[in-house]
Amino acid sequence: MRVKIGGKIKNFRTIWMKGKTVRMIDQTKLPYKFEIYDSLDFKQTAEAIKKMIVRGAPAIGVAAGFGIAQAILDAPEDRFEEFLKHAVETLRDTRPTAQNLFWTIDRILKIVIKGKNVSEKKKLAVDEANKIADEDVETCKKIGEYGDKLIKDGDKILTHCNAGALATVDYGTALAPIRFAHYEGKKIFVFVDETRPRCQGSRLTAWELSQEGIEHAIIADNAAGYFMQKGEIDLVIVGADRILSNGLTANKIGTYEKAVLAKENEIPFYVAAPTSSFDLKSKEIPIEKRSQDEILYMFGLNDEGKFSRVRIAPKKSQALNPAFDTTPAKFITSFITEKGILKPKDFRKLFK
Ligand code: MRU
Repeated sequence: MRVKIGGKIKNFRTIWMKGKTVRMIDQTKLPYKFEIYDSLDFKQTAEAIKKMIVRGAPAIGVAAGFGIAQAILDAPEDRFEEFLKHAVETLRDTRPTAQNLFWTIDRILKIVIKGKNVSEKKKLAVDEANKIADEDVETCKKIGEYGDKLIKDGDKILTHCNAGALATVDYGTALAPIRFAHYEGKKIFVFVDETRPRCQGSRLTAWELSQEGIEHAIIADNAAGYFMQKGEIDLVIVGADRILSNGLTANKIGTYEKAVLAKENEIPFYVAAPTSSFDLKSKEIPIEKRSQDEILYMFGLNDEGKFSRVRIAPKKSQALNPAFDTTPAKFITSFITEKGILKPKDFRKLFK
């Protein structure tokens, strides 16, 4: 992704591996500071996923893949299996809703088992983790190309949370079609849901769109209906954390409301996601519950430029904080994937 640093534009991936270190853009610091966080072992990588230094289902998946590679590189020969099992459990225990986390770990373990000795296993793990990261970039490009065809010159698009380059290795899912439409010279405008409580919309999506020079405005989460009623939104594109065979889609809390509102206002509602986010086996989606502090406090830069946290609720009030909700397929116009624009009936024949 393009990042302006000191007046110059540089290209960055969200996450990559250098030697044994996993390097990632620290998303807890954006938009205030652009910083790279270095994770030195699988425990730090698992912590980075939990604390949302890296976030967004595809990026979480890639981080977990690198975490497994780190664990395999560090595993002592005499306790290899035990060490790896502990690393797998630690990484799987970080973010329960993101399907890519489980998909990546299973994919790397299937490859590693083929290694005849520990040094072969190390090489296989690092190569596969890097391959998954590279594939994610290509996948998002394809999502961008397919999704771009759904956007007309002059369209105003609503998006929720951050399903941008920061949530993947590059380009994004929901933001990839928006990027491609912009690169083609289509005049577009993006309504960015603030996305309480962690404000991935106002902190991350707005930052990415600013870096690209894409026209946008942040709106309060409860303002989308107002703009839809006024006929100001032409289409909605969101990402996904997990999609079941019947099309039921988990995405950031608040997505369901936007989908219902879009149907009521006859506005197309698209979910953009790689096939690695599809879970055709499960019947239910586990929903992550996060700390109530994310709702009881707000944080940001104060007027002196200092990072600060303020309580915005009475001292004795409690909060409930489910991080995701689920949207039934009847509210989703289509799914934009790297294999094309799909309906749930297409899933089984396309994803093995
Ligand atoms: O809690 P987060 O920030 O990890 O949630 C992210 C989302 O809900 C994204 O929309 C989703 O992961 C798709 S990202 C391409």
